[in-house]
Order: sequence, then structure tokens, then C-alpha cells
Amino acid sequence: MGLATARELAGRGYHVLAGVRSVTDADRIRARNLEPVILDVTEPEQIEAVVARIANDPMGPKLTVLINNAGIAVNAPVETLPLDAWRHQFEVNLFGHIAVTQAMLPFLLGTHGRIVNVSSLGGRIAMGTYGAYAGAKFALEAVSDALRRELAPHGVSVVVIEPGGVTTEMTGHGIERARHFLETMTDDQRRRYGALVEAIIRQAAAFTASGVPADRAALVFATAATAGRPKTRYTIGRDAAMLTRLARILPDRALDRVLAANLRPHFSAAEAH
Ligand SMILES: NC(=O)c1ccc[n+]([C@@H]2O[C@H](COP(=O)([O-])OP(=O)(O)OC[C@H]3O[C@@H](n4cnc5c(N)ncnc54)[C@H](OP(=O)(O)O)[C@@H]3O)[C@@H](O)[C@H]2O)c1
Repeated sequence: MGLATARELAGRGYHVLAGVRSVTDADRIRARNLEPVILDVTEPEQIEAVVARIANDPMGPKLTVLINNAGIAVNAPVETLPLDAWRHQFEVNLFGHIAVTQAMLPFLLGTHGRIVNVSSLGGRIAMGTYGAYAGAKFALEAVSDALRRELAPHGVSVVVIEPGGVTTEMTGHGIERARHFLETMTDDQRRRYGALVEAIIRQAAAFTASGVPADRAALVFATAATAGRPKTRYTIGRDAAMLTRLARILPDRALDRVLAANLRPHFSAAEAH
């Protein structure tokens, strides 16, 4: 979604600094108005280098929009996920974005700019095995609310995007990680959670395969980044629109039943194998 958004905005004439983590990716995406910058959001020196790139711009230091989009998916039951994996999930999906936001805010205050934080349906609903991912995304939602209220008086807007299933590389990588964590479980843990993890993997794969194409998601990102009077939150896909609404109105146990019913077909498929 990041690349599709960078291309969409570059096509509309914005000069886009697009964070990538390798020179190969930088060479692959470089194009008119699309300037790759090496940026791992967990590496403070790389964040500083991007700050220096903007500060030393020959046309003057001007940044109008920051889109915090980087993310990884870590799926495992709360009991079984090693603490260092919990920390890594939060480092990338939460603290990295806070670090980049802190570094870029002086520029955004100067331009009355905008911050767009990419959360998830998982920022509103935490299904089984989503403790770490949803934990970091719920936190990003809360940080975004605080930031919006802090920055409104200073002319900087803060917008959250909540995608549901979008067809990208995330699910494939997430499934690899989920299988790795399944292998590191004890026999007891695997008896407790094995079928759940398999069902979640199948559900995620189905969800993504029938998801919104990344190019379409990029149009929502572009609206969030450029609309004159942006909404505070944009969902992407019908699943996200419906479930975020249900999460607001249903009591917890009713939502438990809806989520269990959605997962049930994937359970039986998993158990049949
Ligand atoms: N796809 C979905 O269904 C979905 C649903 C809800 C929310 N989201 C959210 O949407 C955002 C974009 O995800 P996507 O679906 O487009 O997944 P994706 O295709 O896997 O893209 C994620 C991007 O994040 C980058 N990244 C990972 N760790 C990073 C780090 N430490 N520093 C900088 N960049 C890093 C990856 O870089 P590399 O290419 O170098 O690995 C990759 O380019 C994420 O925040 C995700 O949580 C996605």
C-alpha cells in the first residue's frame, strides 16, 4: 500500500519521499516525483538522515504530509509469543511511528501539515492470536487521538486509516511468522492453540485474497493525505466499515459470538487436514 500510495501521490504532482529499507528497493521504485529514502523506522540514525534531507532541501525545508505506514504482522497466542517478538512488533508498528512523528513534527508545525497513521481493523477489534498486532494498533489509535487533540490548536491535522483485507505482501509474511511461532510452541501449547492458529491463518489468507487491491486502497490514502477537511478516520473495504461499526455498538460477548461464527468455517477446514 505504501508503494501504491507513493505512486498515486507522485502522479498527482506531489514530491514524495518514500521510505524503503534496501538500495535494491530504492532503485526499483525511483521515478519522477518519487524519491526513495533509506528508512527503517526502528533505526534512529536513518530517521535523522531523512530529517537532514528535508532540512537541507535546496527549495527550503518543507514537509506537508507524513504517512506512517510501515508495518509487520505477528500472530500468536498471548501465552506463546516470546517477549522479544512482542517488543519487536511494538517497535515497528508503534514506537517507530512515534519516533518518526517526533522527528518530523517541527516541519509539519511550520506548514500546518498533516499526519496520517495507518492502523487496521485490528486497531478496533482484537481476535485470538492478534494480541501483539492489535495491541500495537489499538495503541496507535490512542496515540493518534491524543496527537489530534494536541495538534489541532497548532494547525496540524491527524488522520487514521483502518484497512480491512487488502491484497498485499503482509499476509504471506505474517503466515510465515505464525507458522514459525507454531513450531516453537510446547506440545501442550500446540494442543491448546494449534487448531486456532491454523484457522486464523486460513481466515487471513481468505480475507486477503478477497481483499481490496492495493491501488484502490491507495486512493483512500491519497484522500486522507490531501482532503481539505479530512475525516478523523477512514476505513478501507466493506469488512472494515462493518466490523468497526459493530465493535462500537455490540456488547463484548455478542462481538465474541460474531467473531467466533466468522472463524468457525476455517476451523473445520483446518481440522479436516
Ligand atoms: N494488508 C492488509 O490487509 C492490512 C490490513 C490492515 C492494516 N494494514 C496495515 O497497512 C500497512 C501497510 O501494510 P501492507 O499491507 O502494505 O503490507 P506490506 O506489503 O507487507 O508492506 C509493509 C511495508 O512496511 C515495511 N516495513 C516493515 N518493517 C519496517 C521497518 N522496521 N521500517 C520501515 N519499513 C518497514 C515493509 O518493508 P520491506 O518491504 O522492506 O519489508 C513493507 O514495505 C501496515 O501498517 C499494516 O499493518 C494492512
